[in-house]
Amino acid sequence: MVDRRKFLKATSLAGASILAGNSSFGEAGIPNSNPVSDKPIVISTWDFGLAANAAAWEVLRNNGRALDAVEKGVRIPEADPDNQSVGLGGFPDRDGKVTLDACIMDEFGNCGSVAALENIVHPISVARLVMEKTPHVMLVGEGALNFALQQGFKKENLLTPESEEAWKQWLKKSEYKPEINIENKSFRPDKLPGNKYNHDTIGMLAIDAKGNISGACTTSGMAFKMHGRVGDSPIIGAGLYVDNEIGGATSTGVGEEVIRNVGSFLVVELMRQGYSPENACKEAVMRIIKKKPETAKNIQVGFLAINKQGEYGAYAIQKGFSFAVCDKNDQALLIKGNSYY
Ligand code: GLY
Repeated sequence: MVDRRKFLKATSLAGASILAGNSSFGEAGIPNSNPVSDKPIVISTWDFGLAANAAAWEVLRNNGRALDAVEKGVRIPEADPDNQSVGLGGFPDRDGKVTLDACIMDEFGNCGSVAALENIVHPISVARLVMEKTPHVMLVGEGALNFALQQGFKKENLLTPESEEAWKQWLKKSEYKPEINIENKSFRPDKLPGNKYNHDTIGMLAIDAKGNISGACTTSGMAFKMHGRVGDSPIIGAGLYVDNEIGGATSTGVGEEVIRNVGSFLVVELMRQGYSPENACKEAVMRIIKKKPETAKNIQVGFLAINKQGEYGAYAIQKGFSFAVCDKNDQALLIKGNSYY
């Protein structure tokens, strides 16, 4: 439980790797710098990953399945009205509608996804039911909502007064300009959980005691996007990918660039080739930068990955990308990922 944690620690990736004493090798025989953790383990994006990991850890420490852990974990930010980038209280699109994207993937390669889902607090749980109860992978919009209602989910208003006010302010200029690094101002442990200054998607990856890997990814998408816009988060291979033989990856930031590079699938395939998790994430970021160097200067994209051995790492275009780690030492680590800029 989070209140029993011995540590709440902001540290650097380098510091974490020294503590972990990892000596494994990455691509081209270059020693990698990725921390290793005993299984089970759960990692997730941004500061709000700390609270989400704590919920996932309750499943993992009781020998539960990674799939159950990631679903339970990401439901925490989904239900938090102060978190304006995920679930309830998320920033709306430019029409004032909160539309949610989410996906989930298990150790067997099963996956489920919802996109542009309105009025349902827990899109991740709807995505799981798409995976388990339908012959499909993805449901969108009204079809996703109807399915959720059939499955017993309740319709709720997701637009909080704070997010509605932010939208009204945005309408004055109507300038679509996704903000980068507002999370830089955000590490405020006094505000956890539910740090309203934090932003963007939660992606979570877990390995359970049996060594099986699952992942989940959920977001309200880019603030003030066009109605109907879908980002990377519900796209299997873009916002999330898991291969139980190799590892898993997830992404955060401007989804269009992640989709164009099939980012999370790329990270997992690079790990298959021997890249360490951090170097795989770095290579995926470099593809984005190489293709669109001018665009990349002004956007954030970050990847987070874990391999089958429990090594984890991250890399982002811009400074300020944090991720949270929880393992059997009952630690709650918040780590600053490395970045290009
Ligand atoms: N990564 C979240 C989005 O682009 O919607």
